[in-house]
Amino acid sequence: MANEKKLIVGNWKMNLDMHEASLYLHQLSKLVKVHRDVEVVLAPSMFTLQSLSLQVNLRQFKLAAQNFYWRDHGSYTGEVSAAQLRGIVQFALVGHSERRHIFNENDKDIRNKVAAAVRSHIRPILCIGETAWERSSGETHYVLHDQLIGGLSNITSDELEQVIIAYEPVWAIGAGQMALPGDVVEAVKAIRRQIEHLYGKAASESIQILYGGSVTADSAAEYLNLPGVNGLLMGGASLNAHEFSDIIKKAHNSLTAAKKG
Ligand code: PGA
Repeated sequence: MANEKKLIVGNWKMNLDMHEASLYLHQLSKLVKVHRDVEVVLAPSMFTLQSLSLQVNLRQFKLAAQNFYWRDHGSYTGEVSAAQLRGIVQFALVGHSERRHIFNENDKDIRNKVAAAVRSHIRPILCIGETAWERSSGETHYVLHDQLIGGLSNITSDELEQVIIAYEPVWAIGAGQMALPGDVVEAVKAIRRQIEHLYGKAASESIQILYGGSVTADSAAEYLNLPGVNGLLMGGASLNAHEFSDIIKKAHNSLTAAKKG
């Protein structure tokens, strides 16, 4: 596989106020060593992003927005655009299941956001995944297929190099219920097949695909070692600095072991 780097993303969701976020970043920066083969991305709430962007050491951590609006400027009360986030974040989550299911984001919103992020030189992390009902009805691969097509239809082959995919089964998020490793491998294979169909073999091999859904320090190594999985997207585990730094260490160790083995 072309990717010899792991990407570890912490989604803080609507947690930590300005003071707590700053303290947390300070604590995490003491615990985490910079590894060239592991990129660590923090996704704080929109409100704390700007002050953290002044505090963060970009060699150690990159920043991500959890959400944004897809138009660049205009009369959209309460919204923040990717164009406004340029220079503050390097990544952005798009289509997280909480955005799809709580805030009713549809494929059109999501594809516009993927394109807006790319336009503003921010790398979109497109989140896709099936619900429990879709899985039990045998529809997982159809759902992944539709969400990929839905999210990427404005994206050219060149632009795809900026895009990261996160496979996050909806039923596993925040639930303490983890996907079986074999099922994750199957889903990631299906995603690569679809990318190959849309963009060709080289793109399907080089695109970074993350797994997310109730990952903890105890389960991280197992997911990190799965074929085709280039990293992790975590909610709960990213809010504990010791646990999160432990996971970052595991990501580095998984690559070191793979090189030796
Ligand atoms: P979780 O969240 O790790 O708490 O399940 C994952 C996510 O929402 O991306």
